[in-house]
Amino acid sequence: MHIHPSILSADFVNLESELESILHADAFHVDVMDNHFVPNLTFGPQMVESLQRVTKRDLDVHLMISDVDRHGPGYAELGVASVTFHLEASSNPVELAKRIKLVGAKAAVAIKPNTPVSEINEIVSAVDMVLIMTVEPGFGGQKLIESTVAKVTQARSLSWSLGLDIAIQVDGGVTEENIQTLAKAGADTFVAGSSVFKAVDRNRQIDLLRTLAEQAVRG
Ligand code: DX5
Ligand code: ZN
Repeated sequence: MHIHPSILSADFVNLESELESILHADAFHVDVMDNHFVPNLTFGPQMVESLQRVTKRDLDVHLMISDVDRHGPGYAELGVASVTFHLEASSNPVELAKRIKLVGAKAAVAIKPNTPVSEINEIVSAVDMVLIMTVEPGFGGQKLIESTVAKVTQARSLSWSLGLDIAIQVDGGVTEENIQTLAKAGADTFVAGSSVFKAVDRNRQIDLLRTLAEQAVRG
């Protein structure tokens, strides 16, 4: 069970010290938004490169950008651990996953709440991870959309049916109240923005989320 705090909820003026406050994380989730694929703007490759320089921790880059076929591989070239792109934004997702992996990063495909899991049938064997968005991408602090939990179960079944060992990530509205439901549904990688950054003790919150997820699957 992996907990990836999303730095979208961090104080952008003090990102280096914000990263130091979440060292119990398994990786840092970095949301890249272009104000086109989603109605919000964060930062681009220069910021990701700077983040790479100030931490040894894995960066899990979530690209919420249009024209990801063109810009996606460039993020992998920065040396990040994984690059996630949206299926809805790519015209050749299998090729894009290949290009990301070719430069040594893990490749992941994300789907928005209204995109059915069946849409990833073709690409699932080409990626290391599937991201089931549990909110509409664009903003932190939203409430998890309950109907997305069934999609986590479907994605896990798809992976099993193909004999694949891929990670299933969930992103959006993950809290200590719903993480066990998500873990039982088959998620193993949890993005948590506001629930970690709002906590008085952020590392304790990360530990709590991980423990709850582990307990849920141990029964
Ligand atoms: C939303 C982003 C998320 C966001 C999650 O589009 O992809 O990573 O930061 O934040 P919370 O956990 O607050 O919903
Ligand atoms: Zn994200």
